Amino acid sequence: MHSSTHRSDVLVIGGGIIGLVTAWRTARRGLTVALADPAPGGGAAQVAAGMLAAVTELHYGEETLLALNTASAARYEAFAAELAEASGGLDIGYRACGTLSVALDSDDRLHLRELHALQQRCGLESEWLTGRECRRLEPMLAPGVRGGLRVDGDHQVDPRRLAAALLAACERAGVVFHRANAERLTVTADRAAGAVLDDGTQLTAGQVVLAAGSLSGRLAGVPVGAVPPVRPVKGQVLRLSVPAAYAPFLSRTVRAVVRGSHVYLVPRENGELVVGATSEELGWDTTVTAGGVYELLRDAHELVPGITELPLTETRAGLRPGTPDNAPLLGPTDLPGLHLATGHYRNGVLLTPVTGDVMAELLATGQLPEAARPFTPRRFSSVREESYA
Ligand code: GLY
Repeated sequence: MHSSTHRSDVLVIGGGIIGLVTAWRTARRGLTVALADPAPGGGAAQVAAGMLAAVTELHYGEETLLALNTASAARYEAFAAELAEASGGLDIGYRACGTLSVALDSDDRLHLRELHALQQRCGLESEWLTGRECRRLEPMLAPGVRGGLRVDGDHQVDPRRLAAALLAACERAGVVFHRANAERLTVTADRAAGAVLDDGTQLTAGQVVLAAGSLSGRLAGVPVGAVPPVRPVKGQVLRLSVPAAYAPFLSRTVRAVVRGSHVYLVPRENGELVVGATSEELGWDTTVTAGGVYELLRDAHELVPGITELPLTETRAGLRPGTPDNAPLLGPTDLPGLHLATGHYRNGVLLTPVTGDVMAELLATGQLPEAARPFTPRRFSSVREESYA
């Protein structure tokens, strides 16, 4: 083990898509940026399906989050073009294909009707279709589909390509990568001042961003009041492949809630079909289980019976960083110099553009943009103080 010291304006801890976008956007503002991660570009983005589901994943009580989600969705097309240029031509697979949410029985139909009413109250665009109209759009749907919601504004990207493009953009923008784990936050004179890595490297920085997804709460040295309240929520995801002879199998994302579980099928232009996802509170476990695969295939088969003909090419599990209110943690903590960009839960891919922009603005100017203020980590400070009292 060697020991060396490196200094930058900003240190980003975590090299998933949120850490990478923060590093890239910040470097473009003229700050020097270092990023610590043993395998940058990895993490939950290697598993995620990449739905930009601001409208179809709307939930009661999450109207504030909706504003951030729709703001990020609206930026995606321009963001994809800018990233392609900054990465030397890498395409992130942005596909403006829309989404169809369908119901298989009368309970699902009621649930979807309520979602439609909520979407309308929120001023969102979605259209109710009969089962027959759904099947006219997507002929592979099961004959039993009872109705659905057509949401033409919920698109997709390929998160693996997104991670690769962000990595290349960071390298070209001069971000310095340290391929090791951040073991401990350094605090000097009551201020975050850098981190010590597990290879002995000491990084010092004027500002530190903790962007380590579900691992963000595990960095040693963070004072109790600033520890992000994130927990891992496991998602198992399958990848199938649509042979050319079967194309077009699905032309848009198709999803449903089957017996209370979300299932979605996300078709890529290259023939990949992503089927997700379980949602399991099992700590750090990332085992792919027979039960998880069975449930996903069973539910997906109810929606689109023809999937059983397709080659199953990959099964994988990832960890979403969940927070107590399902919304991200963006901005300064109670420890001066330490900021968070984590806790994106089910919306990490969707929120990547807006996260990069608000974090870069904060790091460059000291001001957290208005759009991010409802998501400051300080919203949990009083709760934490009471629970530790
Ligand atoms: N947003 C999809 C998921 O987290 O499964």
